[in-house]
Amino acid sequence: MNRRNLLKTLSFTLGASIVSTDVLAELGERSFLYNIPENPLHKKLAKPVTAITIGAGNRGMVYGNFAAKFKDQIKIVGVAEPNTFRNDRYAKIHEIESTNRFNTWEEVFKRPKFADAVIISTPDNLHYEPCMKALAMGYDILLEKPISPSEKECRDILALAKKNNRIVAVCHVLRYAPYFVKMKELLAKGAIGEVISVQHFEPIEHTHMAHSYVRGNWHNSKATTPIILAKSCHDLDIIKWVINKPSKQISAMGDLKWFRKENAPAGSTARCADGCKIERQCPYSAVKEYLDLNRRTSVFDVPADVDRKVFIAEKLKTTNYGRCV
Ligand SMILES: NC(=O)c1ccc[n+]([C@@H]2O[C@H](COP(=O)([O-])OP(=O)(O)OC[C@H]3O[C@@H](n4cnc5c(N)ncnc54)[C@H](O)[C@@H]3O)[C@@H](O)[C@H]2O)c1
Repeated sequence: MNRRNLLKTLSFTLGASIVSTDVLAELGERSFLYNIPENPLHKKLAKPVTAITIGAGNRGMVYGNFAAKFKDQIKIVGVAEPNTFRNDRYAKIHEIESTNRFNTWEEVFKRPKFADAVIISTPDNLHYEPCMKALAMGYDILLEKPISPSEKECRDILALAKKNNRIVAVCHVLRYAPYFVKMKELLAKGAIGEVISVQHFEPIEHTHMAHSYVRGNWHNSKATTPIILAKSCHDLDIIKWVINKPSKQISAMGDLKWFRKENAPAGSTARCADGCKIERQCPYSAVKEYLDLNRRTSVFDVPADVDRKVFIAEKLKTTNYGRCV
């Protein structure tokens, strides 16, 4: 059952008192309008929170874009990012002074504290050190998941956050998705009785799978965190959050089956644009995804003043994003 049907079914079978028609207003074939209830913990801010972004890539941009849209809530006052294109772009959007622009996270903490919070959106293996340093200096933190690949490091962060009475908000973003907010509310009200077991499915679209976990940042589980941590930490978190009981034990397992050399179809080449005989039929074609559909192309940092297609075509020849899955 998809999310739409789940909500629809719950509203029909459990009665309008649980999912009333004013919270579920059909907008079209695929979507519903659902207003998340006011969170009583949210306080009106006297002035915006000031924050420094560490890692201005994909996620750094997401939180930065929020700041650009809701200026009364958060103001970005500094950035640390070694990629010049991204650092420049971020500084321009948020009008960051040159003295508050840094190459790497270490440089931020050589300066006395100059903001309320830091947003840590660096690669998975670069969460722990900046987080510990930021806590030691008294910053509150928005920390990307997974907190750390090591349990000890996770516990260190928890201990220091408690000791220094600081916030470490981990970006388990599903907790804020209307679908899960509503589901938690329904389950807490006993809408389906006592919860005995949970079956949760995260359907990673095949092109997202290929982009992130076969070609992209998480293509090698030895060099970074494996998908079971990088992606499934959201799933483990949401199950526990929805059930709202402590866990006694967590086990997770998986293995790589499909994206292996021996499964490459006849006629395929090392790169999609190398004359692959089945590129037009292949659901994973990099040419289709990045050139024809122009999807997920932010990874290429395309400058405004170049021919976009020519630039991306070149990247498909030289980066992992052009490789056969
Ligand atoms: N919450 C979610 O749903 C969600 C979704 C995707 C990714 N993530 C997490 O967010 C984090 C970032 O992922 P992303 O997709 O934005 O990756 P990304 O590669 O787009 O961005 C990471 C950025 O960090 C920069 N960086 C590298 N070393 C640095 C250093 N020493 N100091 C400062 N910056 C440095 C990189 O240049 C890059 O721009 C990862 O931990 C990832 O797991 C979370």
